[in-house]
Amino acid sequence: MRTPFVVGNWKLHKTINEALALVTDLKNHLASVKGVQVGVAPSFVAIPAVAKRLEDSAIAACAQDCFWEISGAFTGEVSGAMLADAGATWAIVGHSERRQFFGDTNENVGKKAKAAIAAGLGAIVCIGESLAERDGGKTLEIVDAQLAGGLAGIERASIDRLVIAYEPVWAIGTGRTATPAQAQEVHAHIRKRLGERYGADPADTIRIQYGGSVKPSNAEALIAERDIDGALVGGASLEAADFIAIVKAARSG
Ligand code: 13P
Repeated sequence: MRTPFVVGNWKLHKTINEALALVTDLKNHLASVKGVQVGVAPSFVAIPAVAKRLEDSAIAACAQDCFWEISGAFTGEVSGAMLADAGATWAIVGHSERRQFFGDTNENVGKKAKAAIAAGLGAIVCIGESLAERDGGKTLEIVDAQLAGGLAGIERASIDRLVIAYEPVWAIGTGRTATPAQAQEVHAHIRKRLGERYGADPADTIRIQYGGSVKPSNAEALIAERDIDGALVGGASLEAADFIAIVKAARSG
């Protein structure tokens, strides 16, 4: 039985004070919610304050990226060890916005995921096709290539700290969500590939989140699908009430 994992990806939103206000609200309202794991991913600069505020809570502070080198002349980058030191316990890698605007490749995403795991963090590896790729019948081919690159450095011994996020690019920030059946089809395919790489039983323990216009109104139906184990939430994670409703919809049991 996989515990659903719901993470709010705040992207380029929230000052430190705004982040603290939101996380305090989440902490107060989610303290007694069981059967679901929760995380928030603020900007790098808000991680220390958010992590400190969450110290006595089960909500995880997550990072939105993780560079693959430990240290050196890499202006602007943040290492896994630095993220762990700041209080993060998970790092999102390979988000489609990083791929689209900042040149992340399948190979680089694999290096980032490996570095996050090596630093003791969990890695949320994002994959997903564009609209042109879906319309061209290439969805599974793209997902396979992104998965192969993203998992290249992750051994079976570390899969308890591996989460996959399937985020079809055409559903991100567009209000256009994949239907539960469309998402489930790809999630099942991803789990099959995970089974080929790590063995069927181990693959059965890996959480696969769905992301792309997840809202309180659609979360329950998506997460009810057999291979959908939570959500990576953008816009709807910026408002406490919406995110809390999504977390509650994801509870298992
Ligand atoms: P939206 O929920 O705003 O579509 O964003 C999804 C996403 O990119 C989460 O990482």
